[in-house]
Amino acid sequence: MNTSANPAEAHNEALTGFREDVIRGLSASRKRLDPKYFYDATGSELFEHITRLPEYYITRTETRLMEQIAPEIGQACFDTRAVVEFGSGSGRRSEILLGALSTVTNYVPMDVSAELLEATRSVVNLAYPEIRVVPLLADFGQELSLPSEVPSSRLGYFPGSTIGNFNPQGATEFLARARSLLGDKARMLVGADLVKPHHVLDQAYNDSEGVTERFNKNILARINRELDGDFDLDAFAHQAFFDEGMGRIEMHLVSLADQKARINGGPVFEFKAGETIHTESSHKFTLGGFRDMARQAGWHPVQHWTDDQQLFSIHLLSQR
Ligand code: AVJ
Repeated sequence: MNTSANPAEAHNEALTGFREDVIRGLSASRKRLDPKYFYDATGSELFEHITRLPEYYITRTETRLMEQIAPEIGQACFDTRAVVEFGSGSGRRSEILLGALSTVTNYVPMDVSAELLEATRSVVNLAYPEIRVVPLLADFGQELSLPSEVPSSRLGYFPGSTIGNFNPQGATEFLARARSLLGDKARMLVGADLVKPHHVLDQAYNDSEGVTERFNKNILARINRELDGDFDLDAFAHQAFFDEGMGRIEMHLVSLADQKARINGGPVFEFKAGETIHTESSHKFTLGGFRDMARQAGWHPVQHWTDDQQLFSIHLLSQR
């Protein structure tokens, strides 16, 4: 989390964190980068584009499902006073949720991008002028705290199956942290993508227009832009596949040659031909598996919904 209130200092802290994570990840024996670094302005736009692709069923399916079940969510969460959203870059679904909850007075979008938070704030202000928006510039992968003015009877919202970016242990720990953050009488609404036939998953992450490829490579472009790197984007290939054993899509960038790259003032990163950088894992869940995980984190699964085709699931969890 940025500890600085000064935007310029906050920016510097973020840049230093990015640099350290890149050096650590690309110096490891199995090279990796944290998927949270996909989402600079370019990456967020590319992701928006992904959500409109025919092959990428997730966002569209979840949004339709939210529209369908909004009244039921409204009933189950009849006393909710604050909505805390983890990763706020998901405008439409938040609007549906807030529209279903008539008792909400506070909306707390949380994101690592100040620009996204500002955009979210103005959209919600316009649609729901009576709701107070309390943006929180924070990384939900880290320890969190809420301003004390956020009233209790809180509903956590974690859409998009972003929870799938954590490994199972990390996801359980996140849910447990969210539980203590949200406090007494809290509930949590989580979107979780479901295990399904390989070809559907493989196509969703290997779209025919190559947008996912550009999204994946943008992480190197961002290293070049922000850390003054010299990565040759044409010397890496996009790779995404479903790993049955791990129950997850893995995205990698495959080095197409023996090559070196570096960032300004940093070490030299050496790549063998065929060596990969693991850029994202996107875990897929079974209904039972997700509920078990929630229980392990101390939540009580109360209700869940899926679309007709069982592509996607939304889970309501409760503190008691
Ligand atoms: C935003 C993490 C849910 O894993 O499906 C889309 C990101 N990566 N295409 C996902 C993503 C490649 C997405 N999440």
